Amino acid sequence: MSKPRFITFEGIDGSGKSTQARRLRDHLEALGHKVALTREPGGSPGAEEIRQLVLTGDPDRWSAETEILLFTAARRDHLEKTIEPALAAGTTIISDRFADSTRVYQGATRGDLRAMVDQLHALMIGREPDLTFIIDMDPATALERGLARNSGEDRFEDFGLPFQETLRHGFLALAHAHPNRCVLIDGNRTADQIASEIAARA
Ligand code: ADP
Ligand code: TYD
Repeated sequence: MSKPRFITFEGIDGSGKSTQARRLRDHLEALGHKVALTREPGGSPGAEEIRQLVLTGDPDRWSAETEILLFTAARRDHLEKTIEPALAAGTTIISDRFADSTRVYQGATRGDLRAMVDQLHALMIGREPDLTFIIDMDPATALERGLARNSGEDRFEDFGLPFQETLRHGFLALAHAHPNRCVLIDGNRTADQIASEIAARA
């Protein structure tokens, strides 16, 4: 049996991460792999409770510093309860978002808090995915797609277009900084075209 892998999807809101995470899961399962799909914030019962706290309500509800603590607390629970047990049991994990989202959303959008994010990550999480797909796309189109879902979890979409532009540049910078782990994917195409490229590169 091949070694289970920890694969993540990253990108701005509405870029197609969830769609492509599901497509990759189906593809890997068809090849005979055991695969579990999960997401952040969330992915374990405790982390899903924290998800409610961070994704609903007023955009100014939490400071960026408090958010770093909440997202990291959720991630620690997700890692302990879901990701590590699955990998130990031979199951590949595909996560819709992980630590790169904190690096970009909390680390680079409201002041330069990246050092704080990195320190807390080193202290409390201390692991990176084996492979990360960063889906890059036009923020205006992505924002339309995301808000069209009307999920009620739009606290970050509610920060608006300039915020999404800043996020896009943050993800591009991460892709360039970690070329061995990150694969940059052009999301301005049909879901089928994107899924084929991801399947070929996974
Ligand atoms: P994310 O998880 O990044 O927020 P989703 O996968 O939920 O993105 O996609 C957001 C919306 O856009 C969904 O309604 C989805 O069906 C649609 N969508 C996803 N990928 C594409 C694509 N390549 N082209 C057009 N629409 C897409
Ligand atoms: P998600 O449900 O993936 O939203 P979307 O489908 O719109 O991309 O993620 C919820 C929101 O949480 C998203 O706006 C990004 C934000 N987020 C952070 O700000 N920091 C983090 O560490 C994570 C994991 C998510």
